[in-house]
Amino acid sequence: MQHVLVTGGMGFIGSHTVVCLMEAGFEPVIFDNLCNSDTKVLEGIARIAGRSPIFIQGDVTDSAQLDSVFEAYPIRSAIHFAALKAVGESVSQPLRYYRNNIGGLLELLAAMQRHSVQNIVFSSSATVYGEAEKMPVTEDTPLPPALSPYGSTKQMGERILQDDPYFQTVCLRYFNPIGAHPSGLIGELPLGIPNNLAPYVTQAAAGLREALTVFGDDYPTPDGTAVRDYLHVMDLAEAHVAALRFLDEATERSAFEVFNLGTGRAVSVKELLHAFERVNGIPVPHRIGARRQGDVTELWANPSLAEQRLGWKAERSLDDMLRDAWNWQLRLVNQ
Ligand code: NAD
Ligand code: UD1
Repeated sequence: MQHVLVTGGMGFIGSHTVVCLMEAGFEPVIFDNLCNSDTKVLEGIARIAGRSPIFIQGDVTDSAQLDSVFEAYPIRSAIHFAALKAVGESVSQPLRYYRNNIGGLLELLAAMQRHSVQNIVFSSSATVYGEAEKMPVTEDTPLPPALSPYGSTKQMGERILQDDPYFQTVCLRYFNPIGAHPSGLIGELPLGIPNNLAPYVTQAAAGLREALTVFGDDYPTPDGTAVRDYLHVMDLAEAHVAALRFLDEATERSAFEVFNLGTGRAVSVKELLHAFERVNGIPVPHRIGARRQGDVTELWANPSLAEQRLGWKAERSLDDMLRDAWNWQLRLVNQ
């Protein structure tokens, strides 16, 4: 079994990926400092996969801790999820974001080099495209200056990996992952008031928040609300298995490859809200508010390169995402 280091593997996307890796016959080694996750996730993973994954509590900015993991396990590849991801917080605490996201990446790469590990899958974000002119975006869309320190850590991370061809990199630009494992045993655990749309919708529906504020209905879009490309977190998780296989098996590839991961479907805030109400038969209290600073009008992917090269395509529908998100929220409320 191939050992894969999964930094940030206790988090939202990491935990779902760990399940897919175990089911695909890989041996994930989770390395996470739990700054935005909880060890309860391990129970959920174990119940789905039938056994507990390897978990080491540690920080990617700590080279000695990283060395001890590479010494303990015959790691062949790394998937690097570990990062801080709150855009607003990155504006108020930029140094913390650069230290964690860039410092952590540099320490990880140095440790990989010390232990002769070359394959890495890097979590990037659609945020690197900023306010792109032409929709849907392809991977060769030029990247404008980042809109936030968080966004710039993703652009810089990509650049660092591109600059050093020792590393065999698959860089994945995630669009908007939502939903949860259909079992309801793992999902997203937003601490405090959610920043992102889907967890806010489920918490408002559950009565944990008074009402969702729709950030702006005066955008130049069909219904006036902003448009994104939401994808099921299980589809996204499966893309990581495809990326590892691509690194191992592709005969024709460059040292640095980048892929958009989305459905290619444009969905507005109102459309998501109404789909949630229809699918789950529950109203979502909401009001229209001002636009959120830094938000782009629309952003959705052309995901065809991932299909051609990785053999990956998002299969699950918006209804699946919203049903699974609600199922997970109900579990959290009843815990
Ligand atoms: P998450 O916060 O749920 O998971 C990140 C995990 O990394 C957490 O468990 C946290 O404890 C851990 N972590 C953070 N800093 C660490 C450090 N220094 N050392 C060890 N562990 C550390 O976030 P997520 O939504 O699962 O996102 C995973 C990755 O995907 C991140 O790199 C994020 O920037 C990127 N991304 C996420 C989204 C999204 O919508 N969720 C979109 C685009 C890109
Ligand atoms: C946000 C981040 C982005 C990050 C992504 C995934 C910002 C500016 N961008 O993107 O960098 O990669 O999350 O973590 O934070 N909305 C509401 N009400 C809410 C919450 C959101 O109307 O309470 C709207 C937003 O205006 C947006 C859409 O819902 O139009 C999606 O928002 P969100 O889930 O935060 O994702 P992004 O803005 O795409």
